Amino acid sequence: MEKLMIAGGRPLRGTVQISGAKNSAIALIPAAILSESTVTLDNLPTLSDVAIYTELLEELGATVRWDNDQMVIDPSRLVSKPMPNGNVKKLRASYYLMGALLGRFGEAVIGLPGGCNFEPRPIDQHIKGFEALGAEVSNENGALHIRAKQLRGAKIYLDVASVGATINIMLAASRAKGVTIIENAAKEPEIIDVATLLNAMGAKIKGAGTETIRIQGVDGLQGCRHSIIPDRIQAGTYMIAAAATRGDVIVDNVIPKHLEALTAKLQEMGVHIYEMDESIRVVGQPEYESVDVKALVYPGFATDLQSPMSSLLTQTRGVSILSDYVYSNRFKHIPELVRMGAKIKVEGRSAIIEGGPLSAARVKATDLRAGASLVIAGLTVAGGTTEITGVEYIDRGYDHLVANLVNLGADVWRQED
Ligand code: EPU
Repeated sequence: MEKLMIAGGRPLRGTVQISGAKNSAIALIPAAILSESTVTLDNLPTLSDVAIYTELLEELGATVRWDNDQMVIDPSRLVSKPMPNGNVKKLRASYYLMGALLGRFGEAVIGLPGGCNFEPRPIDQHIKGFEALGAEVSNENGALHIRAKQLRGAKIYLDVASVGATINIMLAASRAKGVTIIENAAKEPEIIDVATLLNAMGAKIKGAGTETIRIQGVDGLQGCRHSIIPDRIQAGTYMIAAAATRGDVIVDNVIPKHLEALTAKLQEMGVHIYEMDESIRVVGQPEYESVDVKALVYPGFATDLQSPMSSLLTQTRGVSILSDYVYSNRFKHIPELVRMGAKIKVEGRSAIIEGGPLSAARVKATDLRAGASLVIAGLTVAGGTTEITGVEYIDRGYDHLVANLVNLGADVWRQED
């Protein structure tokens, strides 16, 4: 197993290119199997989750050619096959195979998903959606068996505005008979990205990005070419790292609108930010004000940036309160930050963070964004080397992390543990 070594205390300076969005990619790849001909995805990130999804599609009989940031998926020889174990358990987003296979074949047998389990993450809203579309769903030995003679459009009100449930229902409903309306749909940019791909394949989806999505089912979908949106969470992580190290970084290939909640919060702290068409320049300052941050569904402050943000908040004067209203207990990184000297208490859904210096320590990433928070903490520490184990989690969401940080002047390397 490898670990990440960081000799921190150097301000990040320069330009970093942001790749395509992970949470789009791992929905677009399964969406492609709804097509009967070749789908080409551009701006694909190089991530372990993408590699696992490629294998999943190959197991189902698709031909996949992946070359740098482009993937060509030919699903014409796809078969309906039970996938109870193996790769589906390595990935949370394997749940999208449920909606995609249900739409394409009217049946799916998929193991309950794995992935970053920082807290129990139910999929009851996905199941409610499939059932509303006319599917029968049963759980047999940890795998969901989903079957429908004929998917029929329905009106579905989501109890929680779930990204995964919204996308999964869109996938299945694209091939249902009649109209499906999703109310209280999630509004994240990745949902618009999936709808854009499906529409390019011939689907009829309106309203993605709003709380009401209307899907007119169609008889078949065809191939197309689609470019994946930039990864707003990866971009936000570099923005936070630039501020935390008092650096000066241009984060390039982003949609600044997707980062507005973070930009506003950084400005409130005193970070200087300059927005351009497709890039954001972040100029760190010697001192920051403490702030309160509430992670909410989009367009609120992203829960995926809550853990990275907690590291930055240790660099303020005073006490900040960081609350997460999407996940009730996404705080596994906090004890690790405390090992680095952070003064943080968790109370319910909130972390109360008192500004103060951090010191180098050996810490463990327990999930992807927890890992990102430890990287940022390590980059801010002057003196000593921070060792981060659990690098495999970080590899799920940050491609070329070490190369990017080294390019920005950081002293970071990987070594065998
Ligand atoms: N929820 C339910 N029932 C459901 C689905 C969700 O109660 O059927 C609850 C969850 O327990 C949670 C909230 O709704 O409290 C949000 O869950 P959501 O379904 O939106 O999460 P997800 O779709 O499984 C995606 C991203 C996450 C990101 C969230 C929120 C993917 C594969 N994952 O998860 O990304 O945190 O949306 O924006 O797209 C990450 O990238 O590190 C990550 C965890």
